[in-house]
Amino acid sequence: MATMTTPSDAAVIAPAARLRGELQLPGDKSISHRALMLATLAAGESRISGSGDGADVRSTAAICRALGANVERLDVDRAGGPTVDYRVVSPGVDGLTEPAADLDCGNSGTSLRLFAGIVAGLAFRTVLDGDDSLRRRPVARIIEPLRAMGATVHARVDDSLPPLTVIGRPPLDPVDRWTPVPSAQVKSAILLAGLRAGGSTTVREAVATRDHTERMLRARGIAVRSERLAASDADGREGAVAVTIEGGRTMTAIDERVPGDVSAAAFWLVAGAIHPDADLVLRGVGVNPTRRAVIDLLRAMGADIDETPGAATAADNGAGEPIADLHVRSSGLRGIDLGPADVSAAIDEIPILCLAATQASGTTTIRGAGELRHKESDRIAGVADGLRALGTAVEVEGDDLVIHGGRPLSGGITDSLDDHRLAMTFAIAGLIASGETTVLRPSSASISYPGFFDDIGRVTS
Ligand code: S3P
Repeated sequence: MATMTTPSDAAVIAPAARLRGELQLPGDKSISHRALMLATLAAGESRISGSGDGADVRSTAAICRALGANVERLDVDRAGGPTVDYRVVSPGVDGLTEPAADLDCGNSGTSLRLFAGIVAGLAFRTVLDGDDSLRRRPVARIIEPLRAMGATVHARVDDSLPPLTVIGRPPLDPVDRWTPVPSAQVKSAILLAGLRAGGSTTVREAVATRDHTERMLRARGIAVRSERLAASDADGREGAVAVTIEGGRTMTAIDERVPGDVSAAAFWLVAGAIHPDADLVLRGVGVNPTRRAVIDLLRAMGADIDETPGAATAADNGAGEPIADLHVRSSGLRGIDLGPADVSAAIDEIPILCLAATQASGTTTIRGAGELRHKESDRIAGVADGLRALGTAVEVEGDDLVIHGGRPLSGGITDSLDDHRLAMTFAIAGLIASGETTVLRPSSASISYPGFFDDIGRVTS
């Protein structure tokens, strides 16, 4: 057994002799949030199968209830193992009601930003709040466009930090604007507000971010158009996109299945690639082109990952998300250079990619990673400190990271800073370190992956 956990405040991870097995990943967190939100906006009954069940998704489910939807969480046994479904019955967007209390987003930035866009189009006052980490996350990026659309929005400290007070004012004014940073949360907030605007709303982004909101709106009968912009139409920005939504349309309730979370799969892809005796199969992982960068970056580093497309694509999945089984084996990795577009494409996977870099030959550079400072923790500082504590040479130069690879990890004491992605990164590091690795505050893993430590037990026993 590789782990001894005292879940409340520390996990001690022992080196694993080998990694073997098949895992069913938790339902994708981004898609689960959106499935619950869109089910709340559509009148009628929606069934969400294989939902994520982390604390963040539960925060979203509770907010949907507070707005007037009937949201039932169901434990279900399927062939792949136990999972969670939701059954949502909603009066639809025009029947939602003013919540009796502030809405608690917990640790979830996606709940905060996307609900801000939703309630901007509802004719009442809402306060969106969360835990200490959420209260440090920037909101000016959504306040500004939602105000331009006609909602009244205020926040703490010169309108920069939550809680966020929103007084909605449907119909909103349509807008056409660039996002200040590539962010699917900002894009989605504007699109969800755009649903309640009188006309078409366009969001332009310099780099295409995850497109689940667009796919899922289309699957529910809403007209959403995405087009790549020529550099000449985008101030020279290569790879820019414009997404346009038609406001004032009615959303249809549908049933849908949530793919396995590629951001959770990333921990096992790296574990499998860097452990000297590993062979792991990850079932039913979402491989949406706007989310799969971590797979392709690991392959560029030399990771041995096979991908077998699954049957469950657009035909039986309302959101039209491609799915695959992934098979990873021990690999020899080499360092690579990541630029700002790679950082944006693999925004949640940068910490675990940093761990991969520690075991790659040569140096890995990650440039333009400033957005990582605004996640559940300052992930640049957090990952650098943790990997140094395990014996890696890491330099932080402004918003760039330089990791000198090829040295075995020693083990040591790391701090997750209560950030789920750091907790899981350091726990995976512990599986390949020579000595024991302590992860402080490991229970944060349950924000996105409640079964993570059980899965460590599964693949190491
Ligand atoms: C998310 C978008 C990303 C990501 C977050 C989930 C989403 O945030 O980091 O974990 O579901 O839209 P940003 O869009 O702010 O980069």
